[in-house]
Amino acid sequence: MTSTVRVSVETPYDVRIGPGLLQAVEALAPRYSRVAVLTDENVAPLYLERLGETFGKRVIVVAAGEASKSFVTLESVLDQLCGFGLDRDSALIALGGGVIGDLCGLSAALFMRGVRFIQCPTTLLAQVDASVGGKTAVNLTSGKNLAGVFHQPDAVFADTSTLASQSEDEFRSGLGEVLKTALLDGEEHLAQLEADAALLVARDSRTLTRVVERCVQFKAKIVSADPLEGGSRKCLNLGHTYAHAIEHIAGFGVVPHGIAVAAGVGMALDQAGSCGVLEDAQLAGRVRKLARSLGLPTSLEDIEARTGLEFSEPDMLRAMSSDKKNAAGEVRYVLPVRAGEVRIDVVIE
Ligand code: GLY
Repeated sequence: MTSTVRVSVETPYDVRIGPGLLQAVEALAPRYSRVAVLTDENVAPLYLERLGETFGKRVIVVAAGEASKSFVTLESVLDQLCGFGLDRDSALIALGGGVIGDLCGLSAALFMRGVRFIQCPTTLLAQVDASVGGKTAVNLTSGKNLAGVFHQPDAVFADTSTLASQSEDEFRSGLGEVLKTALLDGEEHLAQLEADAALLVARDSRTLTRVVERCVQFKAKIVSADPLEGGSRKCLNLGHTYAHAIEHIAGFGVVPHGIAVAAGVGMALDQAGSCGVLEDAQLAGRVRKLARSLGLPTSLEDIEARTGLEFSEPDMLRAMSSDKKNAAGEVRYVLPVRAGEVRIDVVIE
């Protein structure tokens, strides 16, 4: 049972979703002169073989974790691509989670001024969000994802059978993006997620495929309308201003991205309530209840309890002030109005 969602950008591409799809990637090999795979030390032993023999010849394995989203690793990847003799008709395959997708996408964008790449996301977070839409980046000491470009993939293969092997924390991190997506998509999606929560947490195979498909359908619609985030795509940053600050203060990799996003969504709901943007008075309580059933935090206090770290207001404000979504030196928030509607570029005194 697989499905396909089209992303209608300048060069349209398909996101294929379902169990067992890694075996289907090899069929694309004849399109390219050479192919190199970028993966990490956790994913390689689990899934590299599933891509097939063609792709076993040129493999770059980096350390697992957020620390690999750095210029040092990027340079090493680019050097290794030269060593493999890749040319401008070659392609890269990103096999892994969001870190690998971002690093591979940026490597593909830079190598010889740009080669093609294919996303093979193996985490829930990467399947529902990071692998779709062409955002690529590495982190700077000053903040998360501050150096990157838009570079759309040729195809995305979201093999949902890989989700069974994810650690509990990493899986929940994906659930944070699922929660954000359902809230942005609207009442029907939110109600479906409420109904699916128990089976989703149990990683039921059919539920996983349906949930990934629904999130990708929403993201594809948003990206197709605004690929370069000039306006409406900014809605996808709901919760991210807070989340990036949490990740920055805790130290990259300490709080998984989607877990920080879940807390950020709760904080955005509170902020929307206190500044009069939120029009559905029941929404914050409803989202909190759903987040709890998914095992997710919804506040800074939850993150403090989880990490044992303190996130003071001045530290949060300082970290938020270097967010790339800011403009004219002001922090720009995405705040919910109701399920399916947000206000973007909100400035709060
Ligand atoms: N992850 C948000 C976006 O792709 O725009």
